[in-house]
Amino acid sequence: MNRLIIIGASGHGRVIADIAELNGYTDILFLDDNTAVQECGGFRRIGTSMNAPEGDVFVAIGNAAARKRLSEHYMDRHQPTLIHPSAVIAKDVHLGPGTAVMAGAVINPGSTVGRGCIINTCSSVDHDCTISDYVHIAVGAHLCGTVAIGENTWVGAGAVISNNICICKDCLIGAGAVVVKDILVSGKYLGIPATLKRE
Ligand SMILES: CC(C)(COP(=O)(O)OP(=O)(O)OC[C@H]1O[C@@H](n2cnc3c(N)ncnc32)[C@H](O)[C@@H]1OP(=O)(O)O)[C@@H](O)C(=O)NCCC(=O)NCCS
Repeated sequence: MNRLIIIGASGHGRVIADIAELNGYTDILFLDDNTAVQECGGFRRIGTSMNAPEGDVFVAIGNAAARKRLSEHYMDRHQPTLIHPSAVIAKDVHLGPGTAVMAGAVINPGSTVGRGCIINTCSSVDHDCTISDYVHIAVGAHLCGTVAIGENTWVGAGAVISNNICICKDCLIGAGAVVVKDILVSGKYLGIPATLKRE
């Protein structure tokens, strides 16, 4: 069977469906807990998130905690790695299951990307980076060489992470931020240079 069940009938889900078709899936179905949604990108919503029928499963939810919870719920199912044909990925790069690499993204040699990650449109991950599980590198964000990003962290659109930087787990790096020092405390970091935003 060449079926992919996509969880999350959203704009992100539509992008995932597009990449899935380009990767050869011919039978694409959506699950979403919003029962008012009938379809996504022309593909039917057939049920709710915890009840996937037979087929490969892909969790297409932006929220890292929800992505992790559902990915773990379907740990016994095949969760493919989806790569847009226009992405440029060095041959030694390791990508985990349930990870998506969108159009125009670049991942350079020596980098590893965990499970359930999003390497979004036109973002770049330079050499020797380590990206932990459930990280989202948003559209147009750039990681210089030898950057490490902890689990669940979201690097916002257009952010820049300077070389040799470590960012711990559970951070939100705001859109357009520039990170020039290690971030060792989880939280929201904004601006140039990026600083912790206190609630
Ligand atoms: C950081 C973010 C989550 C907003 O956080 P928030 O705490 O809800 O912030 P608010 O919108 O309440 O704004 C609070 C203040 O921070 C400022 N601010 C918000 N986002 C900012 C950013 N990215 N950089 C600098 N300042 C920012 C606001 O202007 C506001 O300033 P003020 O208090 O002087 O008016 C959001 O702006 C952001 O950057 N999201 C990332 C979006 C993204 O990357 N999407 C990717 C999709 S692929």
